[in-house]
Amino acid sequence: MITSPDPHINYQVNHGVFVLQINRPDKKNALTQSMYAAMAEGIKSADQDGDIRVILITGVENCFTSGNDVNDFVKAPEMGTERPSVQFMKAIAFANKPVIAAVGGMAIGIGTTMLLHCDLVYASEDAFLQLPFTNLGLCPEAGSSLLLPQIVGHQRASELLLLGERFSAQKAMDYGFVNDVLPAAGYMEHAMNKAHHLAKLPADSVQTSKALIKRNQATPMNETIQGELLQFARLLQSPEAQAIFQAFLNKKK
Ligand code: COA
Repeated sequence: MITSPDPHINYQVNHGVFVLQINRPDKKNALTQSMYAAMAEGIKSADQDGDIRVILITGVENCFTSGNDVNDFVKAPEMGTERPSVQFMKAIAFANKPVIAAVGGMAIGIGTTMLLHCDLVYASEDAFLQLPFTNLGLCPEAGSSLLLPQIVGHQRASELLLLGERFSAQKAMDYGFVNDVLPAAGYMEHAMNKAHHLAKLPADSVQTSKALIKRNQATPMNETIQGELLQFARLLQSPEAQAIFQAFLNKKK
């Protein structure tokens, strides 16, 4: 397995499980483009590595991720397919091997939308999630405008995506996109046990089953990600959104 090109993304292989850890605790694991690039590269390499059966994404204790680094939004970048965050979205959306998430603490923005692509999600009872796109003057990304209504239904998706309020891991489980909520001391071990369990099963059987479960998703997912990115890039440039980003960053000074 390759080594991570970014110091805030750790790669580790553990008995057939590729563990991708987000590790930037002083910034609440906010994701820079360099971190997205390392995440995309890690997922793609693990997907092609014959010794790896399962991909597990996690953060640090009490923090999965606070989402995209807001500094990045201030630059109002283009959202082309070569952009690392877009590469990451596609890598997780189209991974052939099962992807598991172990979520402790906050999972904000892409911290929540990436979970919709995971095959199994385990969360700590103190975890909270948030899709704050409208609070920021933005719109859904990473295919969430397709997946969330599919998983939870129109009104619940609207609740989470339009109001943008924090919600608990328990609520995410009730809504159907977290498998289990566990004590803070045990969620990681639980996720790892499930990963090792999956890693011991016949790989072709597991991957074929995953492909069948997701067989109708590829075309709508690609179209959705592209459509969302067009709107996201447009909204990023709006004076309203830029004022919100500046207010967040200035508060910190
Ligand atoms: N982008 C950039 N920096 C971030 C960040 C983000 N998404 N989230 C946290 N940080 C930074 C803070 O600016 C702060 O930096 P500083 O120590 O240099 O001032 C540091 O991480 C700690 O964050 P802080 O806000 O002091 O911690 P908190 O526990 O009070 O609040 C959050 C944590 C995550 C609730 C709050 O930081 C927040 O709302 N972040 C923005 C989340 C967001 O909008 N993400 C984009 C989603 S699309």
